[in-house]
Amino acid sequence: MLGAEGSMAPDPMAPATIPVTLGERSYNVLIGPGVMACAGELIKAHVGTGKCAIVTDANVARHHLTPLEMSLGAAGLHAGTAVLPPGETTKSFQALTDLCERLLAMGLERRDALVALGGGVIGDLAGFAASIVRRGLPLVQVPTTLLAQVDSSVGGKTAINTPQGKNLVGTFHQPRLVLADTDVLSTLPPRQLRAGYVEAAKYGLLGDPQYFAWLEQNAPAVCAGNAAALTHAIAIAVRGKAAIVARDETETGERMLLNLGHTFGHALEAFTHFSDRLLHGEAIAIGICLAFRLSEELGHIGNNSVARVEAHFSALGLPTSMAHVPGGEKPNAAALLGIMGQDKKVRGGQLTLILARGIGEAFITRDIAAPIVLDFLSRQIARG
Ligand SMILES: NC(=O)c1ccc[n+]([C@@H]2O[C@H](COP(=O)([O-])OP(=O)(O)OC[C@H]3O[C@@H](n4cnc5c(N)ncnc54)[C@H](O)[C@@H]3O)[C@@H](O)[C@H]2O)c1
Repeated sequence: MLGAEGSMAPDPMAPATIPVTLGERSYNVLIGPGVMACAGELIKAHVGTGKCAIVTDANVARHHLTPLEMSLGAAGLHAGTAVLPPGETTKSFQALTDLCERLLAMGLERRDALVALGGGVIGDLAGFAASIVRRGLPLVQVPTTLLAQVDSSVGGKTAINTPQGKNLVGTFHQPRLVLADTDVLSTLPPRQLRAGYVEAAKYGLLGDPQYFAWLEQNAPAVCAGNAAALTHAIAIAVRGKAAIVARDETETGERMLLNLGHTFGHALEAFTHFSDRLLHGEAIAIGICLAFRLSEELGHIGNNSVARVEAHFSALGLPTSMAHVPGGEKPNAAALLGIMGQDKKVRGGQLTLILARGIGEAFITRDIAAPIVLDFLSRQIARG
């Protein structure tokens, strides 16, 4: 896997390596099958830390904890493991406090690392803990959902949720290494894989039309878990994110493009109380379709882009409209707009929206007045 030292021929089993270039905080994202089994060696080579504490959730632990513990143990790095309850409610102040205390009880020192083994929930919580325990420990992300591999494990955002909203308390803390093992996705429920796929497609839709065209041909292989297709899909998405993060690490400008579909999507998630009614990626699929439709209404898109986006998501069984929000109360335009007003991108009470001029041509705008958005949402809900 690591390639023989001095060998001239490229190793076909070598992972794809995407650098995230942030000066002294630069790091690599290694992507491919079997990466996790080499975690101990790779952490020694890339991070050079002392011991490592693993943070994971009970679902992930059942499938993937033992090989990681064995790899860290064989390298003499394993300091202990914290297994947390799965689910979004784990991104809370209480869980953060408990985790910090457990890490301190393990005797972690300042050069010891945290290894986040899990999806975006574990990555966000463990990343937050890593940024504050002993005023900052090295962090290694080992993402186990497609969403975490293409998106949340890269870029250094950490967060927990509060009663006021999602991800409103957090820090920026870049990992020192990301190990995205495509093999671990084989145990992910298909619905979770499809939802994570939306975040991959987002990179094509916001800035890389060739990538979106490739996904239009290859999405079935990606969603069926084909290792080569997954590795390519993840590598291109991560390369897209890495380039944007390198130019705007703390989201003062261009990084907001990564929120394509998220202002609408987060409002739908909040409206459905972050329940299994709508997974994050499913809400983002609807949000992206809404962003493209609003762009079309406002005259930014003149071709068949909206139809292509909707057809792509529909073919994968993903929701594309308000009518696809399952069960319970129907979304309400005023309530959605109210939630959108809590968005972190609101400036002086004015919404920031990510719209598009076509596939791969997203842009940031603060020019859309709230009544226009309210009217648009009302019609989207009414159209069923
Ligand atoms: N920090 C960022 O930049 C960023 C970006 C996007 C999303 N996020 C956050 O990510 C979170 C969503 O992440 P997610 O979709 O990965 O959710 P998640 O972490 O809750 O994982 C989804 C479910 O899959 C299970 N699971 C994870 N890996 C598995 C595996 N390999 N096999 C079997 N089951 C597995 C988990 O236990 C959980 O039940 C949200 O909280 C969101 O706010 C953060």
